Amino acid sequence: TVEEPAPLPPLGWNSWNTFYCNINEQMVRQTADAMVSSGMAAAGYQYVVVDDCWMQDTRDSNGNLRARTDRFPSGMKALGDYIHSKGLKFGIYHAPREKTCNQYFSNLPGTSSYGNETRDANLFASWGVDYVKHDWCDPRGTAAEQAAVFKKFGDALKATGRPIVYSINPNSAHWNTAPTYSGWGAFSDMWRTSEDLDDAWSTGCSPSADCFVGITEALDIIEPMREWTKPGQYNDPDMLMVGVRNSLTLTENRAHQSMWAMLSAPLIAGNDIRNMSADVRSVLTNPDVLAIDQDALVRQADRVRDDGDAEVWAKPLADGSVAVALLNRGSGTRQISTTLGQIGLGSGTHNYRELWTGATGTTTGQLTASVAQHGVALFKVTPGSGSQPPEDGTALVSSAS
Ligand code: DGJ
Repeated sequence: TVEEPAPLPPLGWNSWNTFYCNINEQMVRQTADAMVSSGMAAAGYQYVVVDDCWMQDTRDSNGNLRARTDRFPSGMKALGDYIHSKGLKFGIYHAPREKTCNQYFSNLPGTSSYGNETRDANLFASWGVDYVKHDWCDPRGTAAEQAAVFKKFGDALKATGRPIVYSINPNSAHWNTAPTYSGWGAFSDMWRTSEDLDDAWSTGCSPSADCFVGITEALDIIEPMREWTKPGQYNDPDMLMVGVRNSLTLTENRAHQSMWAMLSAPLIAGNDIRNMSADVRSVLTNPDVLAIDQDALVRQADRVRDDGDAEVWAKPLADGSVAVALLNRGSGTRQISTTLGQIGLGSGTHNYRELWTGATGTTTGQLTASVAQHGVALFKVTPGSGSQPPEDGTALVSSAS
């Protein structure tokens, strides 16, 4: 059996959100360098993932995929070696339908993995690939058809004997509808839950429509899928927009990073790591927030209160603490409160710490914060000495002081 490639949500970087098809080996190498020099690697980000547009639009005479020589003249094995020399891991993009997304949209010939599963998986393993993003990118295909095709490639990856994270992106046509299929985790490590994330707090994209989502829409779509996330299997609300084109404010970046951590989501940075501001770096590398994401229980937070634009999300942690996000989705600053009972804790003195400001305190009942527009107050709440656990069945019942 192959070692579980992702016992905790993968942390890394991917080229798509900033560079789209404008990728080349120099940029990827510089990014790998910057992952180390910026402190991203030390904070835990490992994977450097080359998204769509790395491959030629046809296979070679032996049927193998090949890199575009204008963009990757040294080849993908050399790129993988470079990434590994930095202590990082190498990820690559592939597609199971006739074409990659870019080949579809550009009307190019195709390079499907379909029917080439073993050949392509072995080629990737020989290049030292540690992570594959497999992108359906075709409006056709039922969940069952997709599952069969995705599983086939997942099996081929496992058969290489190399631990390779398998990230899948099922059919876009139904991405923004209520979940209809819960079985992706049987053959993948992570699966996309919504359409592409835009660098926006909200896009106004409504459920069932095929449109890019903002932070808030992605949260609404993933929320009912809570039970699917578990160690080694992750709902994936898409790669981070923290620092991408500097579209989001510092407050929004913190809320975005906080909420993805609350979800136990894979954290795949999408910004230009080579040129990020100190603020963006501080959001991506906050160790207390990353610890919430990487908590060993691997629970997706539960939205325990949904009061218009004021929301409370709670996530139990392995040490008996609870992470709590007080989220202000609307405009203007507002006071948001919760109680120990609402977040699943008992009675008596509890200690709390806000993970962006470091503010600490104690409470026996209420937890309240003044939260800026599009902001979050992110607390870790820990039972203090003499506190009582919740009584059976009362964990989600309000017990306001
Ligand atoms: C669609 C995916 O959702 C994106 O993340 C990206 O991989 C593009 N395809 C690449 O064409």
